[in-house]
Amino acid sequence: MTVRLQDWLSRATQALAPVAEQPRSEARRLVEAALNWPIASQLADPDQTIDATSLEALEAMLHRRAERHEPLSRILGRREFWGLSLEIDGATLDPRPDTETLVEQALDLCSGPERSPPGRILDLGTGSGALLFALLREFPEAQGLGVDQDQATLATAARNAERLGLVDRTRFEVGDWLSGVSERFDLIVSNPPYIPTGDLAGLDRSVRDFDDPLALDGGADGLAFYARTLREAGRCLVPGGVLILELGIGQADSVLSLGHDSGWRLLSLRGDLAGIPRAMALTQP
Ligand SMILES: C[S@@+](CC[C@H](N)C(=O)[O-])C[C@H]1O[C@@H](n2cnc3c(N)ncnc32)[C@H](O)[C@@H]1O
Repeated sequence: MTVRLQDWLSRATQALAPVAEQPRSEARRLVEAALNWPIASQLADPDQTIDATSLEALEAMLHRRAERHEPLSRILGRREFWGLSLEIDGATLDPRPDTETLVEQALDLCSGPERSPPGRILDLGTGSGALLFALLREFPEAQGLGVDQDQATLATAARNAERLGLVDRTRFEVGDWLSGVSERFDLIVSNPPYIPTGDLAGLDRSVRDFDDPLALDGGADGLAFYARTLREAGRCLVPGGVLILELGIGQADSVLSLGHDSGWRLLSLRGDLAGIPRAMALTQP
C-alpha cells in the first residue's frame, strides 16, 4: 500500500493532537526522520507518495508518539539545547529548556566586572552533557568535568563531545556525586534529581515511562541531592567560586535554608520562561 504525503500528514496530525503542542510540525519531523525527506521538500511536493516499507516505519514512530506518549526527542534520538544538537538515548535524561536558565545565570554572573569567566567548570549529574557543553561554548577558554553515576549516559555524553568538537576540553568520570572529586573549580553547576520519591508514580507518563528514575528521584522530600551538594561542594570551589543549582517548583526556600546552614551566601535567583524560580546561584564568603 502507498499513501500520499499530505494524506498521511493530515491523519497523523489528528492522531498527535492530544499529545503534541504542534502536531503538524511533529508529523513532518517524523516523516523527515523516517524517510529522510527534509521539511522543505515535503512542503515543495505534498503529493509525493510514501511506499509500503517507509509507511511501516512511519506508523511505528507515530504509534510510539501518539499511543505510548514517548517524547519526540526520544523517538528522534536528538534534542536541541542552547542551540546545540545533542544525542540522547534510553540511559540519558532528556534535557529540558528550563535548564537553559542556569546557562543564562552563569553568563550574567561570570561575564560582568565582578567575576572573570570560569577556567574550570564541574557539572554534577551531567547526563547528556547538555549543561556542560552549553557553558563550554559560552566560555571558550574553559575546561569541563562532567560526573555521573551512569556509565551508559557518559558514553552518550562522550559522543556528544566528539560531535560538538569539545573532546579536548571535556572529561567525564563515573562517580557518586562529589565523593570522587578532589579538584577545585571556578564554577559548579548541577541539575540534580529533585522529584520527591512519592511523586514519581504520578508524573506525566511521557516522563515517568521514559526518563530513568535515578535521574529524577531526589529522596523522600526531593532535597537529598541539594543537601549533599551544599554540604560537600565548598571544598571543590576556589575562593569566590560560584555554585548554580537547578530548582524544582517550590523548592527555593528549602534549598536556600539548607545553603545557609552550610555557610553559603545567595548571589541570585533566576526564573525560567514561566517565571518559576529555577536557578539558584550561591557562593561561600
Ligand atoms: C536531572 S538529571 C540531569 C541531567 C543533565 N545534567 C541535564 O540537565 O539534562 C540528573 C543526573 O544525575 C545523575 N545522578 C543521579 N544520582 C547520581 C549520583 N549519586 N552520582 C552522580 N550522578 C548521579 C543521573 O544519572 C542523571 O544523569
